[in-house]
Amino acid sequence: MNNRQLFLQHNAQTSDAPLALEIVKAQGMYMWDADGKKYLDLIAGISVCNVGHCHPAVVKAIQKQAATYMHLLVYGEFVQSPQVAYAKYLADHLPASLNSVYFTNSGSEATEGAMKLAKRHTGRTEIIAFKNSYHGSTQGSLSIIGDEYWRNAYRPLLPDVQHLQHGSMDMIGRITERTACVIAETVQAEAGVIAPSQEWMQALRRRCTETGTLLVLDEIQCGLGRNGTLWAFEQYGIVPDVLLLGKALGGGMPLGAFIASRDVMWSLTNQPVLGHITTFGGHPVACAAGLAGMKALIEEDLTAAIPAKEKLFLQLLQHPRIKAVRARGLMLAIELDDFPSNKKVIDYCIANGLITDWFLFAPQCLRIVPPLIISEEEIREACRIILAGLDTLGEQ
Ligand SMILES: Cc1ncc(COP(=O)(O)O)c(C=O)c1O
Repeated sequence: MNNRQLFLQHNAQTSDAPLALEIVKAQGMYMWDADGKKYLDLIAGISVCNVGHCHPAVVKAIQKQAATYMHLLVYGEFVQSPQVAYAKYLADHLPASLNSVYFTNSGSEATEGAMKLAKRHTGRTEIIAFKNSYHGSTQGSLSIIGDEYWRNAYRPLLPDVQHLQHGSMDMIGRITERTACVIAETVQAEAGVIAPSQEWMQALRRRCTETGTLLVLDEIQCGLGRNGTLWAFEQYGIVPDVLLLGKALGGGMPLGAFIASRDVMWSLTNQPVLGHITTFGGHPVACAAGLAGMKALIEEDLTAAIPAKEKLFLQLLQHPRIKAVRARGLMLAIELDDFPSNKKVIDYCIANGLITDWFLFAPQCLRIVPPLIISEEEIREACRIILAGLDTLGEQ
């Protein structure tokens, strides 16, 4: 059996139609398959490879740390310099109140940790989340995602969770002194790039402050430069009580984090002690890689060019089959009529050397979340292929 057949036989499958491309190498903006075919990457492993595949500084940091030490002890006991250096670097680039970092293995686990922290810190149980939000696939984070189709098969889930209409001013009064935390993606990604208004975000912040509720912003997908500023919340003039990070945080290695003030985070130290435990969270190799990746993002000033890149995508993506393009920096959704049309364009793109896909809660939208290093020439090439794919849909 070849590798593809073995993959289908022995690797657990999550759909009956996986892409099943066999990629043998990735570098910068590109991937190569087993036949030597080259692909331009327009999705960065779903918002992960912000500084490109195998950035030399990230590879070097991994090699150096792997040769120094790997796993030593469960999270939180030993002083491990890659964790310390990364936590300090993150705190230096965040508002002063976000100064305590709990490293996890994934975004879902960061969501889980934040929910536990909010319950423990406030002594309350209610969690408020929003329709069409995505926060992960573990049972706790699944309980708060905002789509009944994805949740329903796994009931019973966490009790005392409310889902409110995202962006609705009328709903804000539903946050009360019973509410432990409100969890929102700063910009909803899997909904097909939905950015709430400044007015709504500020009202959410005010209401959480009034009721003593923790405001948790999930920037697992939209953070770390993706939306054109280092943090997406900067564009709303607010600061969350807890920030969730993941995906690009590890520079391509598995790493997540929930970040709060030292005071709030202290709740995890007592009654019970060890309030959140992980063996591998904040793995030294992942932290070394993540720190090198975030330093590259900042030192190469990758966010500075994002507005011009976003504008170029918007200029080029003109076609009668496009119903709308929603963009927030280098996170764009091209809305088409329906999933079958979108799938046809996606298949055309992949066949023509461009990797893209659809969004979980917006299957009619084509995803554009490339590494932030994408050049003007590569944007033109990507749009040329997408437009040719749209031509195959024919006249309406
Ligand atoms: C906004 C958001 N939150 C949480 C998660 C969950 O992260 P992970 O898949 O690393 O568990 C994701 C993953 O797609 C995400 O996009």
